Parts: sequence; structure tokens; C-alpha cells
Amino acid sequence: MQIRRLSPALGAEVTGIDVAKISDSQFETLRQAWNDAEGFLVLRAQTLEPEEHVAFARRFGPLFGEADQFQESVLKNLLPGQPALYRVSNKKDAKGEPLGRERAGTYWHSDVSFRREPAQASLLYGIEVPDNGGDTMFASLSKAYAALSDAMKRLLGTLDAVHDFRVAAVSSGSYAQSDLANQDFDGKNRAIHPVVVRHPETGRPTLYVNPGFTSHLDGFDQAESDALLRFLYTHCQRPEFIYRHRWSQGDMVIWDNRCTMHFAVSDYNADRYMHRATVVAQQPQRYRAEEQRCTG
Ligand code: SIN
Repeated sequence: MQIRRLSPALGAEVTGIDVAKISDSQFETLRQAWNDAEGFLVLRAQTLEPEEHVAFARRFGPLFGEADQFQESVLKNLLPGQPALYRVSNKKDAKGEPLGRERAGTYWHSDVSFRREPAQASLLYGIEVPDNGGDTMFASLSKAYAALSDAMKRLLGTLDAVHDFRVAAVSSGSYAQSDLANQDFDGKNRAIHPVVVRHPETGRPTLYVNPGFTSHLDGFDQAESDALLRFLYTHCQRPEFIYRHRWSQGDMVIWDNRCTMHFAVSDYNADRYMHRATVVAQQPQRYRAEEQRCTG
């Protein structure tokens, strides 16, 4: 297995490994490399059956579609017979029916942050990718946090943010009205999380807000909340915190939603077909700087 860093912000490329056949010790090496690279890995040149993809994803933890349900609005995009695989695609079948969610995630977001137990790893497998275009951008929210002033870190460390599926579903217009299910607005897809969380594996502090799903900062007037969140989003999107992934067929990309947000660039017409497995995280916990100092 060879591991090569892709950018100072985040990301590493792994070659010389077959995901369908990896041993426990190779998996531990991958997991460490993933944490070392701020939560982004691309495993090149994979050829995987759907059940191999799901089996690999289960090594990271319980899956949406198995241990917990996806939101209703995306159920029709799951791969038939594989409730844990969400199809992201602009392709249609012979009858003109969509083969997945077209142009999913064309806004900055961390997957499923609107749930009390949101997503940790997402594993997106590029089965058919455009020759050019259709990249995905990733921002390191831990690098962005580290670059803030101490005064801003102190302020943010006390705050909570409300995350709501309604933000992407309704306000940004990224879901067609006909795709939305009423059950998605019954409260299950709304959660409150600290603005600065402790990554449960690395212990690093990281921002946990995103334009896709964060509706507001708890206790603030909307105008105050909008101003502070606007500053944070502009800060997080600085080029030095971003890695832009150009897809090759057979890429298995694994990102950590607990310390990154991502944006799918919608600049292509060629066919793009991918399967995503999504791992359920534990409830995010506030980062407490003083505890870290005491425990070293
Ligand atoms: C997603 O947000 O899961 C979709 C990412 C992509 O299509 O590149």
C-alpha cells in the first residue's frame, strides 16, 4: 500500500490496495492515514460489487439504511436491494426514470448534520465519471478552526447551532418540491450541535457548521446569526483549507463529515454515476479547551 499526501489542507491518495480484500491491519493503517490526512482519502482503481462496498463501509461503523434510516426524500434514490447505498447520478434508465439523485450536494454541507447522530464517514464510489468536470471540493473545518484568533475561538466555544434539513430542502431550493416527503419535516431532521466539536478519534477541535444545513446559531437574532455564520463560511472556504478532487473511474473517496464539508461542482453534461455509503456518527460533543489543557 502506498500513501501520498494530496494537499497541505487535507487529503491523501492510496494505491496498491484492493478494498474487497483488505486485512484488519491494513484497515487500521487506512483509518490512521484518514485521520492523519484530516479526514479525506481516495483509494484508486477499485472494482467493487455493491455488497463489497457495503461490507467495507461497515468496517467504519453502522450505516444509514441499516442502523438508522435516511430521510424519506432520498429513499427512491437507494440502489434496489441495497438499502445502504445511495445513488448519486444524472443518468436515466430506458424509461426515462432517474438512476439516482441528480446533482446531489451542489452546496457546501456535511452529510446528515441535521440529525442528533449525524454522519461520520461517507464512502463515494465513482463508477462512471466525466472525462473532465464533476469534481468535488472538500474544506477542512479543523484547519479553518485552527486559523481563527483566540478571541474568536473563545466566543465560538460556548455556542450551539441548529441544523435543519429544511435549509437545503426548502430555502436553497436544491430539492424539487415533488421530491420532498412531508415526514422529513416532523422534527427528526432537526438537531442542535456545538459550533466547535471535539473529533472523537483525533481529539482535535473542529468547526461544525455548514451552509447546507445550519439554520442559525441558537439564542441569536437571525441577523446576528447570519452575520457570524457568513464570516465563518467565508473563512472556511479560503483556498488554503480546500482540496478539489478530480475523479477517476474506480475512485473510492472517503471523507469525514465530522471535520470537513464538501461541494459537488455541477459543471458537466457527461454521464456521472456513483454509489455512496454513509456511516452513522455518535452525537457530536463540545470541544472544551480547558479540559484538553488539564489532560495534556
Ligand atoms: C454528495 O454530497 O454526497 C455528492 C458528492 C458528489 O456527487 O460529488
